[in-house]
Amino acid sequence: MLEVSELTKIYREGRGIRNLSFQMNSGTTFGFLGPNGAGKTTTIRLLMGFMKPDQGSARIWGLDCWKNRTELKSIVSYLPGELHFIEQQTGQEFLDLIEGMHGERRDIKRNQIELLRSLELDPKQRIRKMSKGMKQKLGIVAAFMLDSQVLILDEPTSGLDPLMQKTFVELILEEKKKGKTIFMSSHQFSEIERTCEQAAIIREGELLNIQDVASLKRNERQTFEVEVEGEEDAEFLRQSGLTIYALGKSRFTIILADKQELLWKTLAQIHVKRFKQGTLELEEAFMQYYR
Ligand SMILES: Nc1ncnc2c1ncn2[C@@H]1O[C@H](COP(=O)(O)OP(=O)(O)O)[C@@H](O)[C@H]1O
Ligand SMILES: [Mg+2]
Repeated sequence: MLEVSELTKIYREGRGIRNLSFQMNSGTTFGFLGPNGAGKTTTIRLLMGFMKPDQGSARIWGLDCWKNRTELKSIVSYLPGELHFIEQQTGQEFLDLIEGMHGERRDIKRNQIELLRSLELDPKQRIRKMSKGMKQKLGIVAAFMLDSQVLILDEPTSGLDPLMQKTFVELILEEKKKGKTIFMSSHQFSEIERTCEQAAIIREGELLNIQDVASLKRNERQTFEVEVEGEEDAEFLRQSGLTIYALGKSRFTIILADKQELLWKTLAQIHVKRFKQGTLELEEAFMQYYR
């Protein structure tokens, strides 16, 4: 459905993105993960047809993101990474403006009310008086209320507090149920993990890796670090049937694939000096690419 092929855009200073290629299927969510300055916004601007690529192409449903940018406007909703509003307007006036540009469809209004409620945003306030997080919510409402088939979101949760980030994840999951195709950038692992089937990692303008999040999750394993009191405890642990790796004489990493029962039963029978939950393998895989 979305096909990016050798997409390249280099700014005058030599920064930008180089040779990006990836694809995504209709009805899935694709996470675009990378640190600040990696090239996420540049890629998204090319997908939105705001600039012409130097080389390569991006296509949505066969339409070229640059050449067919006008046609694509009616299919794609966009949340910019940096929102610019008319500050004197109220939130409601802004939303009415967007609504008006789409022919005042009744479903837009209904979606709008629903979204304002779940994001707990009062649209009557002037935008000038809104916090960064409130403005972000307003942008989210504007992008989601149109009920477009494709959503392109540039760091949608930036500025949102953790509770609202959770609400946002639920919102994405709702949209997925409706069959939407979603492309979103982020510099946070957790929201990508919870929403995306695929995730790409970009750094310094280059694609490092594309992960199949769904299959990684299926095989996900949890790690624990334990330090035991004496040799007897260590031996008990070795004989326990748990998958363990020795980190030292009394320190071990335990790897769990599924049931935790054996872990707790074993630990209950030995003297544990220290116990620490490690990262999930999935997160570890991402962190390695980040580093
Ligand atoms: N309009 C521009 N002109 C020149 N350099 C730019 C421009 N926009 C972005 N850059 C540079 O390109 C790189 C990628 O930026 P960007 O795509 O905004 O990254 P991200 O969204 O991942 O933080 C950065 O080094 C940034 O400074
Ligand atoms: Mg950006």
